[in-house]
Amino acid sequence: MSGTDRGVSRERLLAMMTAFKSTYLLRAAIELRIFDALADGPADPDDVAAILRTNPRATRILLRALAAAGLLDMDGEQFQLVSGARELLVTSSPQYGGGVVRVAASDWEWDAMKNLADVVRHGGTLLDVNAETPGFPYWVDFATHLTFATKPGAEFVADLLVPWAEDRPSLDVLDVGCGHGLFGFSVAARDTRATVTCLDWPEVLDVARTYAERLHVGDRVSYLPGDAFEVPLDGRYDAIILGNFLFQFPPSRGIDLLRRLASALKPGGQVLIVGFTTGDRPPAQDYHAHMLSLLMLAWTSQGELHSPLMYQKMLASAGLVDLDTHEKPGLPLRVVSGRRA
Ligand SMILES: C[S@@+](CC[C@H](N)C(=O)[O-])C[C@H]1O[C@@H](n2cnc3c(N)ncnc32)[C@H](O)[C@@H]1O
Repeated sequence: MSGTDRGVSRERLLAMMTAFKSTYLLRAAIELRIFDALADGPADPDDVAAILRTNPRATRILLRALAAAGLLDMDGEQFQLVSGARELLVTSSPQYGGGVVRVAASDWEWDAMKNLADVVRHGGTLLDVNAETPGFPYWVDFATHLTFATKPGAEFVADLLVPWAEDRPSLDVLDVGCGHGLFGFSVAARDTRATVTCLDWPEVLDVARTYAERLHVGDRVSYLPGDAFEVPLDGRYDAIILGNFLFQFPPSRGIDLLRRLASALKPGGQVLIVGFTTGDRPPAQDYHAHMLSLLMLAWTSQGELHSPLMYQKMLASAGLVDLDTHEKPGLPLRVVSGRRA
């Protein structure tokens, strides 16, 4: 399903109405490690069930469904991996992406979205524990598994910040709602002068710490646990990154936070708002951003995706100047920046 499909047909409606079954099929196959079981070559359902200690009849039904969905090849009763599966779905692969089901196909997202009609009647989340709850457990899974598609965006942030900072005596970066931390770490990896302060909930910072070590930038990273709206900001920063953060909140709260952050900037320092946006292009061109906006509607009190223009207004309200929107061909996210005079 994507923004390129237009119009209503029986086939299209059925595809949308049954899409959750393929989500759960993939999620079960990943959880059970079906693709690992077939990594050494073709096997029949009884072999796979013996390897995975699953029920043989149920395993046969699952394997056939995976073949029907094109995720396995079936020859007689022998099943084998299709192209791409070894790289993306076998856990020992460096490109393994199966962990994303813990986020994109998680119970957290399902529980938020399953009563969307009620959410729309009500006007915001119905969940007692939701994305705004301090230490929301989903964010640890997000930080752990959602680095899969982050690298190009993180490199784009480094493309913008590293040349800009060449004439500055320092490049001290604050990454607000850092998650895995890759936005700040990409800058630190590119510029050996750069330091990064990661701000997030304490459990999420434990995940960021592992990525900092893995990327060999750990000696220039410090950690600021707590609520971005309240934690004391003692440092002064050349650049402050907010990656996929502000759409959890309405513009009024975004402005409050940006005012707070603007006062933590060194003269000439800049704020970079990074992430998906909506509102300035036909919705079909921002399909994933609109789906994300639904999730924000369903699991925050007032969050939604914002337009680049709205981000510029928010930055202006926080007293920042030289507002700009940056994009890179092929990259779905935008960077909206503003500078302290
Ligand atoms: C969508 S994730 C973005 C992570 C990363 N910046 C990225 O773009 O991939 C939002 C992050 O903000 C953090 N977060 C949410 N509300 C927060 C708050 N009030 N204070 C600090 N961190 C918060 C979450 O824990 C999560 O790591």
